[in-house]
Amino acid sequence: MALIAPSILSADFANLERDIHDMEKNGADWVHVDVMDGLFVPNISIGIPVVAAIRPVTDLPLDVHLMIHRPIRYVEQFAKAGADWLCIHLEADTPENIRLTLEKIRALGRKAALALKPGTPAEAAKPYLHLCDMVLVMTVEPGFGGQKFMADMMPKLRALRTMLDAENPQCLLEVDGGVDAGTQVICKENGAAVLVAGSAYFKSQNKPGFVKLIQA
Ligand code: DX5
Ligand code: ZN
Repeated sequence: MALIAPSILSADFANLERDIHDMEKNGADWVHVDVMDGLFVPNISIGIPVVAAIRPVTDLPLDVHLMIHRPIRYVEQFAKAGADWLCIHLEADTPENIRLTLEKIRALGRKAALALKPGTPAEAAKPYLHLCDMVLVMTVEPGFGGQKFMADMMPKLRALRTMLDAENPQCLLEVDGGVDAGTQVICKENGAAVLVAGSAYFKSQNKPGFVKLIQA
């Protein structure tokens, strides 16, 4: 059993409302929103006004993935814009500021998530696990949709689930990058409870079926 969060990075930006309503009809659980600043990652996508614009068109939780440098500067604005989940990257600031940012997200009444790039080991998350509602294991280098799934991240996923079971059992594990009908199996086997899917969801000829497959 898992939740699916289709990523609007692969949606038609000129028809976002239509694509989000389709996600609802197709049974998706959350809407994944990829925010990129051209500094933390070598790409620029969407930001606060887009989160505010999509907030009124859906009741699905907005899972906002901040691939931005020093996210502490912006979490309040994203919370006010309507984000339910705010996911920051462990690599995006100093350890002290990462801790402060997670605390700030929670103080704002939002769910706090911490993302790890492929090169960041599971152990690096240890000091923050008690402050997380979710940990996101990237299975591609962040920045672009449509990349190849890194199966070698599965031991890290498993290690984080083991660490969380000891320290914060309620905390969810999410995977993001290259998740499709094939790769979703090992993600779930290794403890992922929330699966992001961008290109695989939008390319699927049978979206309700794809959603059910992930949720199974
Ligand atoms: C990548 C983003 C992902 C991306 C996933 O930096 O964080 O959420 O949209 O796209 P796919 O599923 O195509 O790898
Ligand atoms: Zn993402």
